[in-house]
Amino acid sequence: MIEYRGVWKKFGDQGVIRDLSLKIETGEIFFMLGRTGAGKSVLIRMPVGLLKPDAGEVWLAGERVDNLSEDQLKGVRRKCGMIFQSPTLFDSLSVFENIAFGLRRHFNLSEQELEARVASLLQLVHLDLEVCSQLPAELSFGMQKRVSLARTIALEPKYLLYDEPTTGLDPFTARQINHLIRELKEKLGITSVVVSHDLESMRSVADRVGLLENGNFLVVAKPAEFEQSPDPFVRKFLEAC
Ligand SMILES: Nc1ncnc2c1ncn2[C@@H]1O[C@H](COP(=O)(O)OP(=O)(O)OP(=O)(O)O)[C@@H](O)[C@H]1O
Ligand SMILES: [Mg+2]
Repeated sequence: MIEYRGVWKKFGDQGVIRDLSLKIETGEIFFMLGRTGAGKSVLIRMPVGLLKPDAGEVWLAGERVDNLSEDQLKGVRRKCGMIFQSPTLFDSLSVFENIAFGLRRHFNLSEQELEARVASLLQLVHLDLEVCSQLPAELSFGMQKRVSLARTIALEPKYLLYDEPTTGLDPFTARQINHLIRELKEKLGITSVVVSHDLESMRSVADRVGLLENGNFLVVAKPAEFEQSPDPFVRKFLEAC
């Protein structure tokens, strides 16, 4: 599970997160919605220690993570991968080497095993083997996102945090990424937190959704219940999407 317990965060005088508590269950796909600047990216960075709360606790897989050192966080980041809006790839390395990078560092695999592993990861993200020799710049944005995802999944995380995985993608590619998030839950049991503005994606992928406003979740509900919510802010938010 991932748990926030009474979390507070401010930057200068600006309070961004105010006494927020939330428990995301193992195997769940939790969507965070909210206006721009609501604090979604701030919140999703906390379980891997990229940002620390000013007060409160953050827990991942039964371990308190907000008070860990950078060195201790390495273990947490093996368990919990983070997917950013922009693909995070090494420009000068081929797709194969990008995906193999973490595998070489963390697993003791022969070259043959490495090739098999990269091939199965590419298959998982629905990319052809031919892309192996290409450089990231030679691929479309959507393909780069999938390579980035394959690179993160290579380390066999049990948790994945996605910050706007479908923003900037065409609807077809966005749907493929959504399908993939679901598939990773079903095939590998991965627990996911997804920051998104994409209602279609929420409907097809989320188990639960939370709307962040004024530093806390205004509503946490199943997608269908969320869409039925009579709360005036939720109604306004849904109409604006
Ligand atoms: N490192 C930082 N230093 C100062 N202020 C920050 C920092 N990170 C975030 N903030 C501020 O915290 C607030 C919330 O930012 P955050 O990036 O979490 O918003 P968001 O909900 O992800 O918005 P968007 O939908 O635009 O991505 C913003 O006002 C932002 O300026
Ligand atoms: Mg953001």
